[in-house]
Amino acid sequence: MRPKTVTVDAVTDTVPSLDALHALRPVQQPVYDDPEAVDKVLGQLRSLPPLVFAGECDDLKAKLAEAAQGRAFILQGGDCAETFDAVTASSIRGRLRVLLSMAVVLTYAAEVPVVKIGRIAGQFAKPRSAEWETRGDVTLPAYRGDAVNGFDFTVEARRNDPGRLLQVYNASAATLNLVRAFTKGGFADLRSMHSWNADFVRTAHVSARYEQITAEIDRALAFMIACGVEDDAFRTVDFYASHEALLIDYEHALTRIDSRTASAYNVGGHLLWIGDRTRQLDGAHVELMKALRNPLGVKVGPSASPADVVALVEALDPDHEPGRLTLICRMGASQVRSALPPIIEAVEATGRKVCWVCDPMHGNTFSSANGYKTRSFADVTEEVDGFFDVHASLGTWPGGIHVELTGDDVTECVGGVGELKEEDLAHRYETLCDPRLNRTQSLELAFMVADRLSAMERRPMDFVGMDF
Ligand code: PEP
Ligand code: CO
Repeated sequence: MRPKTVTVDAVTDTVPSLDALHALRPVQQPVYDDPEAVDKVLGQLRSLPPLVFAGECDDLKAKLAEAAQGRAFILQGGDCAETFDAVTASSIRGRLRVLLSMAVVLTYAAEVPVVKIGRIAGQFAKPRSAEWETRGDVTLPAYRGDAVNGFDFTVEARRNDPGRLLQVYNASAATLNLVRAFTKGGFADLRSMHSWNADFVRTAHVSARYEQITAEIDRALAFMIACGVEDDAFRTVDFYASHEALLIDYEHALTRIDSRTASAYNVGGHLLWIGDRTRQLDGAHVELMKALRNPLGVKVGPSASPADVVALVEALDPDHEPGRLTLICRMGASQVRSALPPIIEAVEATGRKVCWVCDPMHGNTFSSANGYKTRSFADVTEEVDGFFDVHASLGTWPGGIHVELTGDDVTECVGGVGELKEEDLAHRYETLCDPRLNRTQSLELAFMVADRLSAMERRPMDFVGMDF
């Protein structure tokens, strides 16, 4: 008989066992028909090397602490659901390019350091509101993301396959490897930023404004380099990976004890967040996240009461640690002005400084007349406006935005400068889950946010130690 898989960096009593987590009956988990196959996969995952280094998670936490204290702004974005098929150079490059372009717009136009975080390299599992999907007279299990089953509407594809968890690890590793190469190897050099969007239609308002910014930055950089400023500072970018920690088995298997500090970190991503559907105070997701030293996010939707949110921040941030918690609020355009203030006030009253991030996507989804799950760009900007107004009236810092976007010119959200109509949605509707902003819409949002930030009376005071 072969020996049982040896687990290296085994987790200790500081982390609840997988059995203990399952005893809490976690919601939104796939049921597999072969438990032995699951055990085998988890054993393999436990022995694989970390995807990120715990020290990088600490660096991100330090940057988030700046954002929590009003000295930086968070840009978190990427796919709703990553797919194995989109682990290609062009797809990864496209997503990175749009995020870096948005970051430059925010940094330059609003003069705010930007903490850059992708919904990338691990965002493969989805919570679903319905267990089943019916098409015509056929009903099959819902698609739960490439981490769990396949998107094709067949019995075979929709079967939960634990082998996919290994594919998640490999796809995340390949993605992160290219992201690191691009952000540290020269692609992200500020001096080449005009080429990132060189294929834009020249006449569009957004591209004209982007061109103007790149020209100004080029001149400023040339000046600084002529003055003797080290040009290495413009060559590389710090970029972090995040995903929703949905699958308890996978996230537990990617938890390791950091040899430097003897503390537990999830090494499958720098920041993990708990979704709006899985944030039960006594649930397995909160229990696992409590044990990790990574910076954490929690999605906060309109069903959360101020007391619920206070209980969550107390459980997840008992030490009032700056940068530990990011509350990603997704109230919807119509509710943000009424639902957000009591939550901010209640959390502020605990004495903590958390990062307040606006997700203007998830509270604004609707079905178009022609049957597409979509969002309106006007609702997205309306929620962002409401978020800034609420913070302005409370004197708190609007710490960032969280968006679903892609580098491609898809047609999934209506509106924006391109005035995308419902009848245009069919043209390039490619998402397997929620509708994403396309590249132009994303940049347009960045300009809108930059305008709001630069109009604020309160300015970030301390840029020291932050990259662009
Ligand atoms: C998501 O971010 O894709 C998601 C499912 O969000 P929420 O948990 O806020 O519904
Ligand atoms: Co989504």
